[in-house]
Amino acid sequence: MDFKREVARQLHIDGVTEEEIYSSLTLPPNSEMGDYALPCFKFAKIFRKSPVQIAADLAANFECGGAISEVSAVNGYLNFKIVKSLLASETISEVKLSGDAFGSSEIGNNKTICIDYSSVNIAKPFHIGHLSTTVIGGALYKIYKFLGYNVVGINHLGDYGTQFGKLICAYKHWGNREDVEKGGIHAINDLYVRFNEQADEEMEKEAREYFRLIESGDREANELFEWFKELTLKYVKGIYDMLGVKFDSYAGERFYTDKMQPVIEELTQKGLLKESEGAKIVDLEPYGMPPCLILRSDGASLYATRDLAAAIYRKNTYDFYKCLYVVAYQQNLHFKQVFKVLELMGKEWAKDLVHVAYGMVSLEDGAMSTRKGKVVWLEDVISRCVDKAYKIIDEKNPTLENKEEIARQVGVGAVIFGALYNNKIKDIVFSYDKVLSFEGETSVYVQYTCARANSVLTKAGTYSYPQNYEPNAQEYEVVKAIANFGNTVLAAAENYEPSYVTRFAVDLAQKFNKFYIDCKILTEEGATRDFRLALTDATLTTLKNALKLLGIGVPEKM
Ligand code: ARG
Repeated sequence: MDFKREVARQLHIDGVTEEEIYSSLTLPPNSEMGDYALPCFKFAKIFRKSPVQIAADLAANFECGGAISEVSAVNGYLNFKIVKSLLASETISEVKLSGDAFGSSEIGNNKTICIDYSSVNIAKPFHIGHLSTTVIGGALYKIYKFLGYNVVGINHLGDYGTQFGKLICAYKHWGNREDVEKGGIHAINDLYVRFNEQADEEMEKEAREYFRLIESGDREANELFEWFKELTLKYVKGIYDMLGVKFDSYAGERFYTDKMQPVIEELTQKGLLKESEGAKIVDLEPYGMPPCLILRSDGASLYATRDLAAAIYRKNTYDFYKCLYVVAYQQNLHFKQVFKVLELMGKEWAKDLVHVAYGMVSLEDGAMSTRKGKVVWLEDVISRCVDKAYKIIDEKNPTLENKEEIARQVGVGAVIFGALYNNKIKDIVFSYDKVLSFEGETSVYVQYTCARANSVLTKAGTYSYPQNYEPNAQEYEVVKAIANFGNTVLAAAENYEPSYVTRFAVDLAQKFNKFYIDCKILTEEGATRDFRLALTDATLTTLKNALKLLGIGVPEKM
């Protein structure tokens, strides 16, 4: 039952529609005040009365009944209380009925969302800086699916550019097949780093020639390039498996090689392309931005050119409702420019392109550096977390079965949760101790809460939901948190903010633990015991669903 709807339906305000009331209803800061609140400030103009007076008048004229047990006016807010036993039974039975679909919706049916995320660069290290785009994109992917959208995950590979000429040149001089086959991406990266350190004029010249050979379709150059690409993808796919993310398309920058010319023609035809110092640009000065570079003076295309072609291709191919780009805020200007150019081209759907920007991740022991081999590979961060998790688990519970698998779930979960806990635009400092703390606002804490709930349920045996049970304060807090899951997922999608889900999980776990500590469960009897078990079960299902949206597994025992 949608209690918010009930409130909107039962409350009548002259000249204000049920829909307006519904969308104005908020959650009061705590349950003692009420379960829903209507702020009356915005009605002050219409009624020419103070918000305090309006709330008081509405309260005086409201007749409680049905799902609403109490109304009060406080400081310009009209507060509503829902019949507690009803909210509890409705919520818990809904969780029971929906199971792993609890919190899902069909709101996205028949709509397609494209998510461009992770978008790694071939032959470059996959480092800690790629963590956020991968896990934010991965979570949004699952969240939108949960809401019924058709989702297309796109890895817009960075597989275009002069660096591949350099790489081939370095390989020809210093590399050999066995070493690269064995060392994979690390060997490729070493070659590339060495080129940047040691290449002389002669090699630079050769590198340009190799790049030209790739472009002109030379067989050997292309085979080498494809091989480097394959090795990179094999490596990153291993990490994607660990993090539980997936892609439906790996169409990278190269894919658009033959799709840029039509864009350039369209730009020309629409009078948008201007000549500037030999280069071709779209002037964005009227919009307060530097020009968008389309073709360099030597005729080469740019990152932006390929993004224009990609956006148009995606619209034609997927007819998206929205297309998201999960890319660091350093590229704010790039996306503003690209979106603007598309708008100027008359693509009305340019408004549906969204740059989901996020902040930097650095490690506690110093800022990350991508120069000269000082990179922190994501793989190392994950394995260090898994190792640490193993040690902690082993210390806490040496006889636990399946310790390796549990350590993997805990360690990987810590990396993901750590990256998703804060509002995405914030820069974050990654700390191993923090993300693995059992007491902190962490996935371990949530996983541990699940294990605790699991253990209670295993010991309990059967029970049935009691009729008309009136929950106490701690129980009610848990019920209300659970009841808010669906709205949390919706808000996370609406704001492209997986942190709403991580924070929800921690909040529900904290409320459950407060209940667990204050209230006995197994030693109780009758209706109280039944209710508490049902509540424990509903909490477990909800926490599992929340973690699953983030790509985090839940061990049965810990
Ligand atoms: N490969 C790029 C980078 O590492 C990110 C690509 C993002 N997606 C896009 N369509 N531009 O910076």
